Amino acid sequence: MDPQFWLSRWEEGRTGFHGEAVHEDLVRFEDRFLAGGPHRVLVPLCGSTLDLGWLAERGHEVVGIELSPLAVDAIWATAGEAPVRDRHGDFQRSRAGRLTVLQGDVFQATPELLGPFDRVWDRAAIVALDPERRVRYAATVGRLLRPGGLILQNAFSYDQAQMDGPPFSVTAGELQTHYAGWSSELLHKEVLTEGRMAERGLDAFEVSCTLLGKPA
Ligand SMILES: C[S@@+](CC[C@H](N)C(=O)[O-])C[C@H]1O[C@@H](n2cnc3c(N)ncnc32)[C@H](O)[C@@H]1O
Repeated sequence: MDPQFWLSRWEEGRTGFHGEAVHEDLVRFEDRFLAGGPHRVLVPLCGSTLDLGWLAERGHEVVGIELSPLAVDAIWATAGEAPVRDRHGDFQRSRAGRLTVLQGDVFQATPELLGPFDRVWDRAAIVALDPERRVRYAATVGRLLRPGGLILQNAFSYDQAQMDGPPFSVTAGELQTHYAGWSSELLHKEVLTEGRMAERGLDAFEVSCTLLGKPA
């Protein structure tokens, strides 16, 4: 999807992907994903997720990247903070405490600009992108993560013929091609046959959580 698609969704308030609580997989797998911290955690395509504040409260240094200025405003309204704002590369940067938000295009993020990350929390990020952008996204994230670092990957898979994305179907096999040579451990999987995606015409909607490890 091109950037305008997402900017319009925020302007029109079509943000059904936003959760009103910290994501259950982040809480459930905190011990596996965040052991040995504090870590430097990247949250790409972060929207206005409450996960940012939760991670920062736990002592991690958190960087969210998000296209929409409206989403960024919502993050700081929720945090109840007045961040320091400046320009950083091609991003509008806002910072307070351990949380930094970069408003701009994730594809402009480089290790030279941002430094290396220990962890990446991908919730509804890779699945938000069309196939061509997914290849570039995974390469971008792979470069930003330090050797030995981990991605906690929330993904969806379903019969793509039954529904247009986003969210797109991203199978375990596709993840293995994006992150070839990395370790991969499926932590959780469930198949939903009711709810929002069933209403969009899907027979089955599989939600998975995988821990991906970049070789040291
Ligand atoms: C499906 S939403 C998920 C948001 C968040 N991860 C969550 O769990 O609530 C995808 C988000 O990615 C943002 N986005 C899409 N393309 C982007 C890009 N190229 N760079 C940065 N953010 C982008 C959209 O504005 C949107 O907020």
